Amino acid sequence: MKFMHQPAKVRDFTEVDSSDARFLIEFLDKANSLSTFQSAKPAITQRLNLNPGSNWIDVGCGTGDDTISISQSHTPNGSAVGVDISHAMVREAGERAARESAANVSFRQGDATHLPFETNAFDACRAERVLFHVADRGKAVDEMIRVTRPGGAIVGMEVDGGSTIIDHPNHQLTQKITDHMTESVAGGWAGRELPRLYRERGLEDVTVTPHTVILDFEWFNMVIGAELESSEFHSGVPEIALWWDDLRAAEGRGLFFSTFTTFIVRGTKPVL
Ligand SMILES: C[S@@+](CC[C@H](N)C(=O)[O-])C[C@H]1O[C@@H](n2cnc3c(N)ncnc32)[C@H](O)[C@@H]1O
Repeated sequence: MKFMHQPAKVRDFTEVDSSDARFLIEFLDKANSLSTFQSAKPAITQRLNLNPGSNWIDVGCGTGDDTISISQSHTPNGSAVGVDISHAMVREAGERAARESAANVSFRQGDATHLPFETNAFDACRAERVLFHVADRGKAVDEMIRVTRPGGAIVGMEVDGGSTIIDHPNHQLTQKITDHMTESVAGGWAGRELPRLYRERGLEDVTVTPHTVILDFEWFNMVIGAELESSEFHSGVPEIALWWDDLRAAEGRGLFFSTFTTFIVRGTKPVL
């Protein structure tokens, strides 16, 4: 056996400050370094319709890397605000912005479901892989719409846990594990919910673009390792160690294959 020990679970992104924030920052750095995530970022940014003077918000900004890089490349004369519920993430993002001398970017602590900003304050709003960790996703979308000006773009990218595939001979247990992973987070089906959440709230010109992420084994272990290690899952499923050994053997032979699909959803706030 078994898993490389992981100090935190994916579900801990709901409350980073009560968990191992350092590990979760590494988790994000690893994810954001994968070409499979990198390749989705231009599509998200393009859908924000930014111009050099735009004033925009990044909800659930994490380490702030996207906030900083989009600001530098697309809104050099505007301003960007990154908001995250985690103090540790906001601190990390602030340090990274200082290192990059990113003067027109700021970060502050705040909850996506109660954004600390005026109505119509921003030209555009983005949230990448955030609602997956939020219980009241409708309220978060309400807030993203509220703080965006009429005519502004709201762009989200969310994972759909139910789309996870893992090539493994034990189909039944694989399904059980992917179901468990999906149920372990606050919004495991956020990806498929997002188009409805936008349309129900009257956003216009809603577009939906699927993007499938291919996992490497190292990041897969970060995603799944701690959840499988946990006694609550282990005690219910004794053959889990064998399942993992099969997967490791596949990786050793260059045959590991796992993906999930994310959805990039864009809408425009109506001009009344
Ligand atoms: C998976 S990370 C994604 C970070 C970043 N958007 C990225 O793509 O790298 C999710 C982030 O959402 C934040 N988060 C979770 N619940 C939140 C909430 N209710 N309000 C604001 N941020 C939240 C977490 O602290 C974490 O930084």
